[in-house]
Amino acid sequence: MTSSLTSLKLAAAKAPIVPVLVIGAVEQAAPLAKALLDGGLTIAEVTLRTPAGVGAIEAMKAAAPELMVGAGTVLNGEDVRCSMDAGADFLVSPGMSPGLLAALGKHKLLMIPGVATASEAMSRHEEGFEILKLFPASIAGGVPALKALAGPLPHLQFMPTGGVGADNAGDYLALPNVVAVGGSWIATQADVDAGDWAGITRKTKEALSAISR
Ligand code: 3PG
Repeated sequence: MTSSLTSLKLAAAKAPIVPVLVIGAVEQAAPLAKALLDGGLTIAEVTLRTPAGVGAIEAMKAAAPELMVGAGTVLNGEDVRCSMDAGADFLVSPGMSPGLLAALGKHKLLMIPGVATASEAMSRHEEGFEILKLFPASIAGGVPALKALAGPLPHLQFMPTGGVGADNAGDYLALPNVVAVGGSWIATQADVDAGDWAGITRKTKEALSAISR
C-alpha cells in the first residue's frame, strides 16, 4: 500500500531537518518559506500555537508550493479540520488521545504522532501510523533510546523532536530508524519575529552541511 507520508519521506531523503515554527503574523509566512527553501530545506512544520498558525500554513503553501508544510501541535478534531482546509501536507501531535484518534478519520495516514515509550510506539504502529515523533526526544532517552528501540522494533520509523539542535542532529540522523529530525533551532520564534530571513537561511545551510559530513 502506498502511504500518504511517502512524499514526506522522499522530501526528508533530500533534507532531513524539519523546522518547528511558531509564527506570530501571517505576513511572516511567505518570506520565512523562501528563507527555508533558499537554505535547502524541503519540509516545514507550522505549529498551531498562535492564532496565525492556520493562515501561515495557507500562506506558505501559496508562496512556496514545493515546500511540504505540515501542521504541528494538532490536538483535536478542530485542529485537524483547520489544518486540512489550509492545505497542510502532514500533521504532527505531541501525543495521541482517543478523541484525536477518532477525529483523524481518513487523515490518519498524514499524522506523525508523538510517542515517548515502547508501548506507545507499539500502539501507534498497531493503529496504522507510519512515522512516530519521539517526543520530547532528549527527555525520552534521545539517541540511546532510539538505538535500544531499533533492536526489538526495527520496523518503526521516527522523527525525534524536542531538544534536537545543531550539536546533536547528526547523531540522530545517523540512526537507521530516524527519517528526519524536528526542532526549533533553525528558525526560532525570535528569528521569525525579527524577520531575520538571511540568518535563518544561513543556519539552515550550516545544519544541512553539518549532517552531510
Ligand atoms: C516543540 O515542541 O516546540 C518542539 O518539540 C521543538 O522543540 P525544541 O525547541 O527543543 O527544538
